[in-house]
Amino acid sequence: MTFEIKGKVALISGGASGIGLRYAKELLRNGLKAVTLADINNAFGQKALEEIEKEFGPRKAIYVQTDVTDMKSFENAFKKTIEVFQNLDILINNAGILNDAMWEKEVAININGVIHGVLLGLENYIPKYKSGSEGVIVNISSIAGIKEFSIIPIYSATKFAVMGMSKAFGDEDHYNRTKVKVLALCPGVTETPLITEINGKNLGPPYQKLLDENLSKLPSQEPECVARAMVKIIQNAKTGTVWVAEGGQEPYEFILPERESFAPK
Ligand SMILES: NC(=O)c1ccc[n+]([C@@H]2O[C@H](COP(=O)([O-])OP(=O)(O)OC[C@H]3O[C@@H](n4cnc5c(N)ncnc54)[C@H](O)[C@@H]3O)[C@@H](O)[C@H]2O)c1
Repeated sequence: MTFEIKGKVALISGGASGIGLRYAKELLRNGLKAVTLADINNAFGQKALEEIEKEFGPRKAIYVQTDVTDMKSFENAFKKTIEVFQNLDILINNAGILNDAMWEKEVAININGVIHGVLLGLENYIPKYKSGSEGVIVNISSIAGIKEFSIIPIYSATKFAVMGMSKAFGDEDHYNRTKVKVLALCPGVTETPLITEINGKNLGPPYQKLLDENLSKLPSQEPECVARAMVKIIQNAKTGTVWVAEGGQEPYEFILPERESFAPK
Protein backbone atom coordinates (compact mmCIF):
# COMPACT_ATOMS: atom_id res chain seq x y z
CA MET A 1 0.00 0.00 0.00
CA THR A 2 1.42 3.41 -0.98
CA PHE A 3 1.34 6.08 1.70
CA GLU A 4 -0.14 9.30 0.32
CA ILE A 5 1.81 12.44 1.40
CA LYS A 6 -0.73 14.86 -0.10
CA GLY A 7 -2.80 16.63 2.57
CA LYS A 8 -0.84 15.18 5.51
CA VAL A 9 0.83 16.90 8.48
CA ALA A 10 4.43 16.23 9.53
CA LEU A 11 6.57 17.01 12.56
CA ILE A 12 10.34 17.08 12.05
CA SER A 13 12.76 17.29 14.97
CA GLY A 14 15.90 19.25 14.10
CA GLY A 15 13.85 20.49 11.15
CA ALA A 16 15.04 24.11 11.15
CA SER A 17 18.29 23.52 9.23
CA GLY A 18 20.48 20.90 7.59
CA ILE A 19 18.88 17.77 6.16
CA GLY A 20 15.79 18.22 8.40
CA LEU A 21 14.77 21.43 6.62
CA ARG A 22 15.26 19.70 3.24
CA TYR A 23 12.86 16.94 4.37
CA ALA A 24 10.28 19.62 5.15
CA LYS A 25 10.63 21.29 1.76
CA GLU A 26 10.63 18.05 -0.24
CA LEU A 27 7.50 16.82 1.57
CA LEU A 28 5.78 20.17 0.87
CA ARG A 29 6.77 19.84 -2.81
CA ASN A 30 4.97 16.48 -2.70
CA GLY A 31 1.72 17.98 -1.43
CA LEU A 32 2.19 17.92 2.35
CA LYS A 33 -0.45 20.14 3.99
CA ALA A 34 1.79 21.50 6.76
CA VAL A 35 4.89 20.88 8.85
CA THR A 36 6.10 21.60 12.36
CA LEU A 37 9.81 22.35 12.69
CA ALA A 38 10.77 21.27 16.23
CA ASP A 39 14.28 22.55 16.78
CA ILE A 40 16.41 24.00 19.56
CA ASN A 41 17.80 26.89 17.49
CA ASN A 42 15.46 29.92 17.26
CA ALA A 43 17.54 31.75 14.67
CA PHE A 44 17.47 28.72 12.35
CA GLY A 45 13.74 28.38 13.06
CA GLN A 46 12.86 31.92 12.01
CA LYS A 47 14.98 31.73 8.87
CA ALA A 48 13.47 28.35 7.93
CA LEU A 49 9.91 29.73 8.29
CA GLU A 50 10.79 32.65 6.00
CA GLU A 51 12.24 30.31 3.38
CA ILE A 52 9.18 28.03 3.51
CA GLU A 53 6.73 30.95 3.27
CA LYS A 54 8.62 32.32 0.28
CA GLU A 55 8.57 29.01 -1.60
CA PHE A 56 5.21 27.54 -0.51
CA GLY A 57 3.11 30.45 0.76
CA PRO A 58 1.64 31.20 4.21
CA ARG A 59 0.39 28.77 6.91
CA LYS A 60 2.47 25.82 5.69
CA ALA A 61 4.82 25.64 8.69
CA ILE A 62 5.26 26.49 12.33
CA TYR A 63 8.44 26.54 14.36
CA VAL A 64 8.33 25.30 17.96
CA GLN A 65 11.43 25.68 20.07
CA THR A 66 12.14 22.13 21.26
CA ASP A 67 14.84 20.25 23.09
CA VAL A 68 14.35 16.59 22.18
CA THR A 69 16.27 15.46 25.28
CA ASP A 70 13.40 16.84 27.40
CA MET A 71 10.19 14.80 26.99
CA LYS A 72 7.95 17.75 28.07
CA SER A 73 9.59 20.10 25.63
CA PHE A 74 9.23 17.56 22.82
CA GLU A 75 5.58 16.89 23.76
CA ASN A 76 4.89 20.63 23.52
CA ALA A 77 5.79 20.44 19.81
CA PHE A 78 3.20 17.66 19.34
CA LYS A 79 0.56 19.67 21.23
CA LYS A 80 1.23 22.81 19.15
CA THR A 81 0.99 20.75 15.95
CA ILE A 82 -2.48 19.48 16.89
CA GLU A 83 -3.58 22.95 18.06
CA VAL A 84 -2.58 24.59 14.76
CA PHE A 85 -3.02 21.83 12.14
CA GLN A 86 -5.46 19.41 13.95
CA ASN A 87 -3.68 16.30 12.66
CA LEU A 88 -0.35 14.50 12.77
CA ASP A 89 0.54 11.81 10.25
CA ILE A 90 4.31 11.79 9.81
CA LEU A 91 7.07 12.12 12.42
CA ILE A 92 10.73 12.38 11.42
CA ASN A 93 13.08 11.90 14.37
CA ASN A 94 15.96 13.75 12.75
CA ALA A 95 17.57 15.91 15.49
CA GLY A 96 21.08 14.63 16.08
CA ILE A 97 24.61 15.77 16.72
CA LEU A 98 28.01 14.27 15.93
CA ASN A 99 30.35 15.07 18.80
CA ASP A 100 32.10 12.21 20.60
CA ALA A 101 33.98 14.80 22.69
CA MET A 102 30.59 15.61 24.30
CA TRP A 103 29.32 12.06 24.29
CA GLU A 104 26.81 12.34 27.14
CA LYS A 105 25.02 15.08 25.22
CA GLU A 106 25.35 13.09 21.99
CA VAL A 107 23.75 10.02 23.63
CA ALA A 108 21.00 12.18 25.16
CA ILE A 109 20.05 13.76 21.81
CA ASN A 110 20.67 10.87 19.44
CA ILE A 111 19.19 8.05 21.55
CA ASN A 112 16.94 9.52 24.27
CA GLY A 113 15.63 12.14 21.83
CA VAL A 114 14.54 9.46 19.36
CA ILE A 115 13.00 7.32 22.14
CA HIS A 116 11.00 10.36 23.34
CA GLY A 117 9.78 10.99 19.79
CA VAL A 118 8.78 7.38 19.19
CA LEU A 119 6.95 7.06 22.51
CA LEU A 120 5.02 10.28 21.89
CA GLY A 121 4.36 9.55 18.21
CA LEU A 122 3.68 5.81 18.23
CA GLU A 123 1.92 5.38 21.55
CA ASN A 124 -0.12 8.55 21.59
CA TYR A 125 -0.27 11.34 19.03
CA ILE A 126 -0.17 9.62 15.62
CA PRO A 127 -2.73 6.85 16.27
CA LYS A 128 -5.02 9.48 17.82
CA TYR A 129 -4.60 12.29 15.31
CA LYS A 130 -3.66 10.71 11.96
CA SER A 131 -5.94 11.88 9.14
CA GLY A 132 -5.74 8.70 7.05
CA SER A 133 -5.66 4.99 7.75
CA GLU A 134 -1.90 4.93 8.41
CA GLY A 135 0.83 7.02 10.04
CA VAL A 136 4.62 6.97 9.56
CA ILE A 137 7.64 7.49 11.81
CA VAL A 138 11.10 7.71 10.22
CA ASN A 139 14.06 7.62 12.58
CA ILE A 140 17.35 8.96 11.25
CA SER A 141 20.20 6.55 11.75
CA SER A 142 23.34 6.67 9.56
CA ILE A 143 25.71 4.47 7.58
CA ALA A 144 27.57 4.58 10.94
CA GLY A 145 24.52 2.82 12.41
CA ILE A 146 24.83 -0.28 10.22
CA LYS A 147 28.64 -0.54 10.06
CA GLU A 148 31.13 0.29 12.78
CA PHE A 149 32.94 3.64 12.33
CA SER A 150 36.18 3.57 14.34
CA ILE A 151 36.62 7.35 13.92
CA ILE A 152 33.47 8.07 15.96
CA PRO A 153 32.64 4.99 18.07
CA ILE A 154 30.09 6.66 20.32
CA TYR A 155 28.22 8.37 17.49
CA SER A 156 28.26 4.99 15.74
CA ALA A 157 26.79 3.37 18.88
CA THR A 158 23.96 5.93 19.02
CA LYS A 159 23.07 5.29 15.39
CA PHE A 160 23.12 1.48 15.89
CA ALA A 161 20.65 2.12 18.73
CA VAL A 162 18.38 4.10 16.40
CA MET A 163 18.52 1.37 13.74
CA GLY A 164 17.77 -1.34 16.32
CA MET A 165 14.84 0.43 17.95
CA SER A 166 13.33 1.25 14.56
CA LYS A 167 13.22 -2.45 13.71
CA ALA A 168 11.81 -3.38 17.14
CA PHE A 169 9.17 -0.62 17.25
CA GLY A 170 8.53 -1.27 13.56
CA ASP A 171 7.64 -4.90 14.16
CA GLU A 172 4.20 -5.92 12.92
CA ASP A 173 3.22 -6.63 16.55
CA HIS A 174 3.14 -2.85 17.01
CA TYR A 175 1.96 -1.92 13.51
CA ASN A 176 -1.13 -4.12 13.79
CA ARG A 177 -2.11 -2.30 16.96
CA THR A 178 -1.15 1.29 16.02
CA LYS A 179 -1.28 1.40 12.18
CA VAL A 180 1.90 3.48 12.32
CA LYS A 181 4.84 2.20 10.29
CA VAL A 182 8.27 2.78 11.80
CA LEU A 183 11.30 2.98 9.49
CA ALA A 184 14.98 3.92 9.70
CA LEU A 185 16.86 5.97 7.12
CA CYS A 186 20.66 5.77 7.09
CA PRO A 187 22.19 8.69 5.17
CA GLY A 188 25.79 8.56 3.97
CA VAL A 189 28.10 11.56 4.24
CA THR A 190 25.97 14.63 3.48
CA GLU A 191 27.14 18.23 3.07
CA THR A 192 25.82 20.01 6.18
CA PRO A 193 27.56 21.69 9.16
CA LEU A 194 27.57 18.25 10.87
CA ILE A 195 30.26 17.27 8.35
CA THR A 196 31.82 20.61 7.38
CA GLU A 197 32.43 21.41 11.08
CA ILE A 198 33.41 17.87 12.13
CA ASN A 199 37.05 18.58 13.07
CA GLY A 200 37.85 18.23 16.78
CA LYS A 201 34.48 16.65 17.66
CA ASN A 202 36.08 13.33 18.59
CA LEU A 203 37.87 11.51 21.41
CA GLY A 204 41.31 13.03 20.68
CA PRO A 205 44.35 12.93 18.37
CA PRO A 206 44.23 9.20 17.38
CA TYR A 207 40.60 9.67 16.30
CA GLN A 208 41.34 12.94 14.49
CA LYS A 209 44.14 11.14 12.59
CA LEU A 210 41.69 8.44 11.47
CA LEU A 211 39.25 11.16 10.41
CA ASP A 212 41.92 13.03 8.40
CA GLU A 213 42.91 9.80 6.65
CA ASN A 214 39.48 8.34 5.95
CA LEU A 215 36.59 10.81 5.73
CA SER A 216 37.37 11.96 2.18
CA LYS A 217 37.30 8.32 0.96
CA LEU A 218 33.54 8.15 1.53
CA PRO A 219 31.13 9.32 -1.19
CA SER A 220 29.47 12.63 -0.38
CA GLN A 221 26.06 14.02 -1.38
CA GLU A 222 23.86 17.09 -1.14
CA PRO A 223 21.08 17.09 1.50
CA GLU A 224 18.43 17.28 -1.25
CA CYS A 225 19.37 13.72 -2.32
CA VAL A 226 18.52 12.41 1.16
CA ALA A 227 15.24 14.35 1.12
CA ARG A 228 14.21 12.70 -2.16
CA ALA A 229 15.05 9.30 -0.66
CA MET A 230 12.91 10.18 2.36
CA VAL A 231 9.84 10.81 0.18
CA LYS A 232 10.30 7.45 -1.55
CA ILE A 233 10.59 5.45 1.64
CA ILE A 234 7.66 7.23 3.31
CA GLN A 235 5.54 6.32 0.29
CA ASN A 236 6.72 2.75 -0.27
CA ALA A 237 8.72 1.19 2.58
CA LYS A 238 7.28 -1.57 4.76
CA THR A 239 7.25 -1.14 8.55
CA GLY A 240 10.43 -2.24 10.36
CA THR A 241 12.68 -1.72 7.32
CA VAL A 242 16.02 0.11 7.19
CA TRP A 243 17.10 2.19 4.17
CA VAL A 244 20.45 3.59 3.00
CA ALA A 245 20.75 6.86 1.05
CA GLU A 246 24.38 7.35 0.09
CA GLY A 247 26.35 9.06 -2.66
CA GLY A 248 23.24 10.51 -4.30
CA GLN A 249 22.06 7.02 -5.34
CA GLU A 250 18.54 5.62 -5.14
CA PRO A 251 17.74 4.44 -1.59
CA TYR A 252 18.23 0.73 -1.00
CA GLU A 253 17.09 -1.58 1.80
CA PHE A 254 19.62 -2.86 4.35
CA ILE A 255 18.68 -6.30 5.70
CA LEU A 256 20.24 -7.76 8.85
CA PRO A 257 20.96 -11.47 8.50
CA GLU A 258 19.27 -13.91 10.89
CA ARG A 259 21.72 -14.96 13.62
CA GLU A 260 20.83 -18.62 13.03
CA SER A 261 22.37 -18.36 9.56
CA PHE A 262 25.80 -18.17 11.29
CA ALA A 263 25.22 -21.08 13.68
CA PRO A 264 27.31 -24.24 13.17
CA LYS A 265 25.48 -26.69 10.93
N1 LIG B 1 25.25 15.13 7.58
C1 LIG B 1 25.57 13.85 7.48
O1 LIG B 1 26.57 13.45 6.84
C2 LIG B 1 24.72 12.81 8.17
C3 LIG B 1 24.93 11.46 7.82
C4 LIG B 1 24.15 10.48 8.45
C5 LIG B 1 23.19 10.84 9.37
N2 LIG B 1 23.02 12.17 9.68
C6 LIG B 1 22.01 12.47 10.70
O2 LIG B 1 21.03 13.32 10.11
C7 LIG B 1 20.44 14.14 11.13
C8 LIG B 1 20.51 15.59 10.70
O3 LIG B 1 21.88 15.93 10.51
P1 LIG B 1 22.37 17.23 9.74
O4 LIG B 1 23.54 16.83 8.94
O5 LIG B 1 21.23 17.91 9.09
O6 LIG B 1 22.90 18.08 10.99
P2 LIG B 1 22.87 19.66 11.27
O7 LIG B 1 23.85 19.87 12.36
O8 LIG B 1 23.03 20.40 9.98
O9 LIG B 1 21.36 19.91 11.81
C9 LIG B 1 20.92 19.37 13.01
C10 LIG B 1 19.70 20.13 13.49
O10 LIG B 1 19.30 19.56 14.76
C11 LIG B 1 19.03 20.61 15.69
N3 LIG B 1 19.23 20.15 17.08
C12 LIG B 1 20.40 19.89 17.71
N4 LIG B 1 20.18 19.54 18.99
C13 LIG B 1 18.84 19.53 19.17
C14 LIG B 1 17.97 19.25 20.27
N5 LIG B 1 18.47 18.89 21.46
N6 LIG B 1 16.64 19.35 20.09
C15 LIG B 1 16.12 19.72 18.89
N7 LIG B 1 16.89 20.02 17.81
C16 LIG B 1 18.22 19.92 17.95
C17 LIG B 1 20.01 21.71 15.29
O11 LIG B 1 19.64 22.98 15.78
C18 LIG B 1 19.97 21.62 13.76
O12 LIG B 1 18.92 22.40 13.21
C19 LIG B 1 21.21 13.82 12.43
O13 LIG B 1 20.51 12.85 13.17
C20 LIG B 1 22.51 13.22 11.90
O14 LIG B 1 23.12 12.37 12.85
C21 LIG B 1 23.73 13.15 9.10
